[in-house]
Amino acid sequence: MQTYAAPCRSVLYIPGSKPRALEKAQGLAVDAIIFDLEDAVSPDEKVGARDLLATTLTGADYGSRRRVVRINGFDTEWGAADLQAVAAAGPDAILLPKVNSGADIATLAQMLDGITQAENTKIWAMMETPRGILNAAEIAAAPRMEGFVLGTNDLAKDLRSTGRAAMMTSLQLCLLAARAEGLICVDGVYNAFKDEDGLRAECAEGRDMGFDGKTLIHPAQIAIANDVFGPSDAELDLARRQIAAFEQAQAEGQGVAVLDGKIVENLHVASAQRILAQAEAIAHLEG
Ligand code: COA
Ligand code: MG
Repeated sequence: MQTYAAPCRSVLYIPGSKPRALEKAQGLAVDAIIFDLEDAVSPDEKVGARDLLATTLTGADYGSRRRVVRINGFDTEWGAADLQAVAAAGPDAILLPKVNSGADIATLAQMLDGITQAENTKIWAMMETPRGILNAAEIAAAPRMEGFVLGTNDLAKDLRSTGRAAMMTSLQLCLLAARAEGLICVDGVYNAFKDEDGLRAECAEGRDMGFDGKTLIHPAQIAIANDVFGPSDAELDLARRQIAAFEQAQAEGQGVAVLDGKIVENLHVASAQRILAQAEAIAHLEG
């Protein structure tokens, strides 16, 4: 199951065609980067972006930031060549757009099996089509799977829906499937990248639903996502007190403790330990 070895609070998209943004990202406080060759890159720029990205991933140092590359789908003229070019740089994961089934992932996994440098490369899936959402469980269980990324803009288009409320079933199906398989699960983007209050509110909603973090489109969004998806001082304090209260109860021969008028059982202790481990992993990153 997932531990917090590597947090995924902030996951920034960078168009593979933008050298300045690619360079800038080496110093940004993000947990993960999605280097994009798909929708952020126009058809005219696809081949140039692929070459730029392959060179950048081989040469540049992104430190502890997780390196995820979103290739074009295999139903386009670019997908297969994208994979060959970027997988040779051994990214942490390949993100496949518009995944509809477990078979889509199995095909990609088989292609990765044939690339020596990609031995440890995982697969992340864009969850953004109605069929993909309905098949979330089999997609999560497919080979090499490590993470789901919600593609809320594409999903809204296909559902013909407006607003987050209309998307809740889809978001929750993805969370259920991801948690059942111990995958990372990252929420969709907030399009109005200058609206800080709106972003903060949507991050908080995603955090409360259970997402690990949020995909971002602009550096100005990073600090808010890191803040909201990281444990607060109050949460850390409560976690420490829950663990202490439970240990004391156990020493007194009790299986349940009471803290601030609420019961603390071993399952609460497990959540408290997860929060402390997450804080430790974040401190390690920022140290
Ligand atoms: N990653 C890294 N750096 C980025 C960035 C990103 N996603 N977006 C902007 N920057 C950098 C710019 O290079 C610029 O750097 P500089 O000032 O040091 O030269 C700085 O941040 C400020 O950029 P700004 O001028 O405010 O943004 P913009 O108007 O140039 O671009 C967007 C705005 C939305 C077009 C741009 O942020 C973007 O392309 N985002 C990613 C979109 C994407 O990937 N979509 C696909 C998934 S939904
Ligand atoms: Mg999409």
